[in-house]
Amino acid sequence: MKKSSMLMTTIGVLAATSCATAQPSLKDAFKDKFLVGAALNESQFTEQNAAQAALVKQQFNTITAENVMKWEKIHPTPDKFDFGPAVRFVEFGTNNGMVIIGHTLVWHSQTPAWVFADGKGGPADRATLLARMSNHIHTVVSRYKGRVKGWDVVNEALNEDGSLRPSPWLKIIGEDYLVKAFEFAHAADPDAELYYNDFSLENEPKRDGAVRLVKKLQAAGVRVHGIGTQTHAKMDWPSPELVDDTLTAFGKLGVKVMITELDIDLLPARSRDRSADVSRRDTADPALNPYPNGLPDSMQQALAKRYGEIFAVYAKHADKISRVTFWGVTDGDSWLNNWPIRGRTSYPLPFDRTGRPKPAFTEILKAAAEPSRLD
Ligand code: XIL
Repeated sequence: MKKSSMLMTTIGVLAATSCATAQPSLKDAFKDKFLVGAALNESQFTEQNAAQAALVKQQFNTITAENVMKWEKIHPTPDKFDFGPAVRFVEFGTNNGMVIIGHTLVWHSQTPAWVFADGKGGPADRATLLARMSNHIHTVVSRYKGRVKGWDVVNEALNEDGSLRPSPWLKIIGEDYLVKAFEFAHAADPDAELYYNDFSLENEPKRDGAVRLVKKLQAAGVRVHGIGTQTHAKMDWPSPELVDDTLTAFGKLGVKVMITELDIDLLPARSRDRSADVSRRDTADPALNPYPNGLPDSMQQALAKRYGEIFAVYAKHADKISRVTFWGVTDGDSWLNNWPIRGRTSYPLPFDRTGRPKPAFTEILKAAAEPSRLD
């Protein structure tokens, strides 16, 4: 038996056991390549869900706030910051020696309407919105100075064709809102890493737009330390080639490259729209929720293969990737149970609803052990 296949058999046996101590971990498997993390919800980082908190500690060395640092949560009204849940999130990461990622400072979504309004029924003016942005970023970033390692400073500023999204930020402030956001964040914590984050960056026009955007920021003298590609993937998108090309392109920017919100949606879609726009809402239909009582083995294996092929590309680009973060811990807590259709049973992550590793987990570990599969 080849040494590597013996190793794989061992990993397979270990992965099949539910005993948390015997289980191999993603963070160890990739420790020479990149950090591996998950986005956490409140029940996980407060340890109310003790089993999932234990799974997080065992498997991951970096965590991202799934919701609690978004503007609507942390700064719901003009004079009120609510740091409670975010403090618990940061404590969980600090107590467990994890790299903590703040998500997100400037976004058009999950941002209260008052931010963009003048209070008299019209839009805020440029000076007002810049002052609000500055106040928000300074207050939030300086609060976690030295504890949050990096921030998604701007989230989803691009359209699918690579042009700038006509968000209220762009319409009210103008193109320099991005420069300002990064400047404010750098001033608030000069040691924090600052990232640009977006979805569908594997598609060429949007990828090119992201490259232009980062280069513009760099030309403006702004500190941008990383680019995050969310990678809310499907079974047939993005192809390994698209992922490969994207990582190569981003690697040339001289910044860290991160996979920030990985999941693979295997449920049938209503439309051909593959974007991860949180505002998308499709109507429910039983035909679009085919596995309410469990995933057939054929689909389980197909998902495993798909995870394996994606991680083989990540392993190949380990020299430029600093982190791979899953958007959720187990299938049951994934946002894809409620987006873009509410109330579906989704299976997008490497751990099932009971926290057990799925065949996908084993394929991911194989990619760590066989980095040269693609060469
Ligand atoms: C999602 C959360 O997972 C959900 O709980 C919430 O209801 C909506 O937002 N892109 C992002 C994330 O940058 O912040 C989004 O998170 C998923 C898409």
